Amino acid sequence: MKTQVTGLFFSPCGTVEKTVRTMADAAAERLGVRSGYIDFTLPRARERDYAFGPEQLVFVGVPVYAGRVPNKIMPFIRDHIRGTGAAAVPVVCFGNRSFDNALAELAALLRAGGFSIAGAAAVVTQHSFNGKLAAGRPTEQDLAQAAAFAVKAAEADRDLDAGAIPGQSDAPYYTPLGADGQPVNFLKATPTVDYGLCVHCGTCAAVCPMGSVDRDDPGKMRGVCIKCQACIHKCRRHARSFTDPAILSHLTMLEQTYMRPADPTYIL
Ligand SMILES: Cc1cc2nc3c(=O)[nH]c(=O)nc-3n(C[C@H](O)[C@H](O)[C@H](O)COP(=O)(O)O)c2cc1C
Repeated sequence: MKTQVTGLFFSPCGTVEKTVRTMADAAAERLGVRSGYIDFTLPRARERDYAFGPEQLVFVGVPVYAGRVPNKIMPFIRDHIRGTGAAAVPVVCFGNRSFDNALAELAALLRAGGFSIAGAAAVVTQHSFNGKLAAGRPTEQDLAQAAAFAVKAAEADRDLDAGAIPGQSDAPYYTPLGADGQPVNFLKATPTVDYGLCVHCGTCAAVCPMGSVDRDDPGKMRGVCIKCQACIHKCRRHARSFTDPAILSHLTMLEQTYMRPADPTYIL
């Protein structure tokens, strides 16, 4: 039995954080130990290494982006998280379309980093693009299910076979489609700012996981935008939005095709 439980997460809009904290807390309670958390959403937290030993159980959560682990975060997980003999539970949160290959990829990264895999979960959570897909999820019921799974993973103390997890660890990224079913490309899109509403409070710059929003001019990006929506969700003035036609067309497609409630996947 493990004597330490940690929840590690990348969570620009908060649903992964909520899910991973719930799981880590439930597992820790079952084992009679305290849980700790490491939030690697912001760049500063990704400047160092994190190592876990045989006494530790670690829930590692990321959102699904284009059917995979977010590509700008993958190298951090690969190079900076080590589990010498520790057990991990990979957790991916997806916004009602599909988790495609993200869970297989995260599990393979953690295994290569020295963890055994005690269980794996793909949880349905509100799509950060628009709040309509999987709206309000994880619900209380979703979280209760996630907690029950976490307790079983903590009790089982096993190492899953790679084949038990659906998907391929090195599959191509999902290509977003537009409303007409044709591929769209919005890699270069960035949020626009309504300067009539913006009060230059600095929140958008502070919450950007890539550290890309210019503090002095929030309409300017100093680096890459991963479309995570953190700056949009957290702007109290609702001054930021995506107006890029390719993104809007993709949103229409998602709303036309993926409103049915998706099911989570729990693997033990
Ligand atoms: C850039 C981007 C790509 C996404 N790609 C997918 C996807 O391929 N499949 C899916 O079901 N949800 C997708 N989502 C939805 C997120 O996985 C989901 O909203 C997740 O809960 C976000 O986590 P967070 O709230 O912790 O930021 C995507 C969201 C973003 C921002």
